[in-house]
Amino acid sequence: MLNKSNKRQKLIDLKLHDSGIRAQFEVGDTRVEDFSFNLNGINFDFSKTHISNDLIDEYATFAEERNLTGFRTKLFSGEKINITEQRSVLHPLLRDLGNHGIEVDDCEFISQAQISQEKLYQHLAGIQELIKQRTVPIKNIIHVGIGGSSLGTQLLFEALKKHDESVAIHFLGNIDAHQLTSILAQCDVTDTFVIGVSKTFSTAETLQNIRSIKAWYEESGGEVFYENLYAVTANEVNATKFGVASPNIITFPNWVGGRYSVWSAVSLSAMILLGASKFKEFLLGAAEADKHFVSTPLEQNISFIAAALDHYYTNYFEAQSRAIFAYDHRLRSLVGYLQQLETESNGKDRQRNGDKVDQKTSPVLWGGVGTDAQHSVFQMLHQGTNLIPTEFILVVNPEHNHVDHHRELLANGIAQAAALLAGQDEATVRSIHADDDLSELAIAAKIFSGDRPSTTILLDELTPSNLGSLLAFYEHRTFCFGVLANINSFDQMGVELGKRLAVEILPLLAEDSPLPTETTIDQSTLETIKKITELSRQ
Ligand code: F6P
Repeated sequence: MLNKSNKRQKLIDLKLHDSGIRAQFEVGDTRVEDFSFNLNGINFDFSKTHISNDLIDEYATFAEERNLTGFRTKLFSGEKINITEQRSVLHPLLRDLGNHGIEVDDCEFISQAQISQEKLYQHLAGIQELIKQRTVPIKNIIHVGIGGSSLGTQLLFEALKKHDESVAIHFLGNIDAHQLTSILAQCDVTDTFVIGVSKTFSTAETLQNIRSIKAWYEESGGEVFYENLYAVTANEVNATKFGVASPNIITFPNWVGGRYSVWSAVSLSAMILLGASKFKEFLLGAAEADKHFVSTPLEQNISFIAAALDHYYTNYFEAQSRAIFAYDHRLRSLVGYLQQLETESNGKDRQRNGDKVDQKTSPVLWGGVGTDAQHSVFQMLHQGTNLIPTEFILVVNPEHNHVDHHRELLANGIAQAAALLAGQDEATVRSIHADDDLSELAIAAKIFSGDRPSTTILLDELTPSNLGSLLAFYEHRTFCFGVLANINSFDQMGVELGKRLAVEILPLLAEDSPLPTETTIDQSTLETIKKITELSRQ
């Protein structure tokens, strides 16, 4: 039940009577066992958080009040759960073509999923064959796409690629032509082809980048651009209007949201180099996580537990952010991917009925790669004034033989999580530095409160299958948080206003364009435009 501040009294009480995480380890010796869970080669250890059975039980009650299991059924059965856009959200179907565990009422969805994935594999085989047959071998693939039409593909590619690729994939998203020019400088029209990825095929950055690549082809002469352009989209009409040849258009269903589209043809460029079988393993790994999510009671449901903790920290500890550090270079794009997944899904201030939300929604998600990040932002995690729940992702078995590097990498990740928990009290500081003649100021500065929550996610190795499970786990967690906060996690209206204003502002940046006298654009913005036009030498 909610109290006056829209908080649940039991959760307030749990927080009030909380004696800290460290203290919980003194109560019994099964904490790690009690709060660790396994899923397809991944171990999730929540023991270094404020988790307790009471907390899980209260959140399970809360979830039932919010009808979480009902929403889960609606999601997986193809109900139009994205209410503002009247759309189903059925991307899990793409990873479970055998259709285990997913009970979709409407067979149309299943056949759409099957047809789109079959066509994807056919196109993939065709492109791979084409690459083999070319007299001038293909050395470069430019993947043009932004947000959900790129982040997952890049993550997938970087996570699973081998080192000896003879073909490079360049991910081009930004409208900033510094990126475009740097990519084109590495390519030649004779050895390059382009995959334009856009669900809507109307995203300004993507279309402009494709047009500029077309101009580059035309200037270079020889190669015919449209023969070297493939489009991946849910909007065939727009791709055709753009000029893409019909056989080169690869579609996926409209019920696959952009930030959930890594499971679809959106991943084509990565698949070309990884191969179909790895991609299938990736999908099946995600289907394993789906099975767990659909069939496990909330009290043992890993995604739900993670979401409950996210909600607890955000709403009861006023944590404004959550940090994720992958101790694996291959996962360097994970945070960017998850940022879109979680913040675009849950950064909302309206409930499902249109009312203002009565609690905090998406915390800021940020992070980086260990050990790099240890030397930049970790100071704040340990001694900053904001509580920042932190996630450590460690991979036990690497793909190289540098055992010394890898042990050091793991030791660092483990040590940071241990340090966040343990802290360092004044007596310890004095005893460590007994011979060092430290000033009182230095002693005070070396005290760490500890008791800062972290979760450790341990992968046996990084495989297509457990990567799939990991990403699906985060999707389900995001979904559960959205249900707890009573929001629609599947639209993204907040990004539209800025896009509309950019269209209005664009002509004002032209040299001879007078600033409008009657406009809805504010004075400060108009001044910025004026300064830019005065300074511009283009
Ligand atoms: O502007 C946000 C957004 O719509 C994302 O949700 C999406 O992933 C991205 O833009 C790209 O959209 P599209 O795939 O239609 O080009």
